[in-house]
Amino acid sequence: MGRRVRITDTTFRDAHQSLMATRMRTESMIPIAEKIDRVGFFSLEVWGGATFDTCIRYLNEDPWERLRTLRNHVKRTKLQMLLRGQNVVGYRNYPDDVVIKFVEKAYENGIDIFRIFDALNDLRNLKTAVRTVKKVGAHAQGTICYTISPVHTVEYYVETAKELAEMECNSICIKDMAGMLAPESAYKLVKVIKGEVGLPVHLHCHSTSGMAMMTYLRACQADVDIIDTAFSPLAWGTSQPPVESIVAALKNTPYDPGFDMELLVEIANYFRELREKYYDPIGLINPLAEKVDPSILVHQIPGGMFSNLIAQLKEQNALYRLKEVLEEVPKVREELGYPPLVTPTSQLIGIQAVFNVISGERYKIVPKEVKDYVKGFYGKPPAPIKEEIKKKIIGDEQPITCRPADLLEPALNKIPKEAKEYIESEEDMLTYALFPGPALEFFKKRQKKRKEPIAPPKEREELEKVAAISAAIAFYVTSTGEVKAVIPRRAKSGLSPWVLAGRKTLTEWRMH
Ligand code: CO
Repeated sequence: MGRRVRITDTTFRDAHQSLMATRMRTESMIPIAEKIDRVGFFSLEVWGGATFDTCIRYLNEDPWERLRTLRNHVKRTKLQMLLRGQNVVGYRNYPDDVVIKFVEKAYENGIDIFRIFDALNDLRNLKTAVRTVKKVGAHAQGTICYTISPVHTVEYYVETAKELAEMECNSICIKDMAGMLAPESAYKLVKVIKGEVGLPVHLHCHSTSGMAMMTYLRACQADVDIIDTAFSPLAWGTSQPPVESIVAALKNTPYDPGFDMELLVEIANYFRELREKYYDPIGLINPLAEKVDPSILVHQIPGGMFSNLIAQLKEQNALYRLKEVLEEVPKVREELGYPPLVTPTSQLIGIQAVFNVISGERYKIVPKEVKDYVKGFYGKPPAPIKEEIKKKIIGDEQPITCRPADLLEPALNKIPKEAKEYIESEEDMLTYALFPGPALEFFKKRQKKRKEPIAPPKEREELEKVAAISAAIAFYVTSTGEVKAVIPRRAKSGLSPWVLAGRKTLTEWRMH
């Protein structure tokens, strides 16, 4: 027995987060949003994860504004976000007042489905978010991060799913962020969870190891309810499998989602051109991330973490030590209690592995975040941390045993005066509470931008061309190591062509 599988499109969130460091701009999404709305997707994942942070830090965009704009263009399909439990859209625990307000505002601005996870599957870190999502009347999708370790057994996952059901989640997501879920394991997992928990199961896989297409097919045979895909130009590699291929493959089977293939191809063509635009002059797409790499099955490193490792090593001029770092990661992970590798634990394990390799002595340098993890401030690791490593990192100090956020004071009533003058809405307040430094800078730029003249469309087009060509030349000469930059700089008085073309931040990012 089988039945139609439903599909979530991740192109506006996970796909570009996985392949191009989350740099897709709202202006690139709008022209195609209405067409995507016509496909019949179960939902569009458009927000959360790294999109929020990247918007203010690198794109100079208001993430709330992006959400509202998308909501205006997507009338029929549900909008979905990825919420990092008590970490919201950041990298550490926030107090409950921030979590509650954030969920309320995200719902108000257009989110229908909240996919909520905790990197350690410590469900205490999901409670406040799930409760608030239920309270506002939205869909709470309780998430289990899938990973492979001696403690991550089928029983473990089923128990976790049952607890999520007890928390009144509307559905269960199996989140295979590293693309390690094998077809047969998916079949068993979906079957058992559906049988014993009874809630709809949503499967989220990455193509990283190359297994995802088969995993999805096998999950369909176990009656999975929903699967995640992306449009082909932004699929494969560390992103999701391509929707067109899945739809074609499921044709004439009981699982056929029933999409219009011509419409899918039309939309894919839009993304194909867009991909070239980001790929070519700006070089935003990492070619490594687009490839299938089965070695993930050994090192278990998800896409985002992989590009972070490359960036960190490049910064230290030590890219040639990548292999050693990849071998160090599973060791560190085991010693620190087998956390699934997903934000923020992927960053913790990644940075520790880099330090262990570069410093020449394991755990000689331990960043504050890793110390906090060992002290229990991220939650309870799936397995105990190795005693001798714990001792090396925190000495005789005892880790906490309560829910980490219980130790946090409310934050929303403590916005400093220097920030207050820039805050124009409750959404701004949250942006500030989540990322104080980058938010303040973003607010200041926003205020400044309002005073800057924007060139008329024709002139802007001309300037954009100049900017794109300059960026290409600059990229070329920088990569060949001849000249640092040929990008026109802002003159003391007046505006540079970059500002007028509205492309300044993009080049700034490129040059860093
Ligand atoms: Co993902």
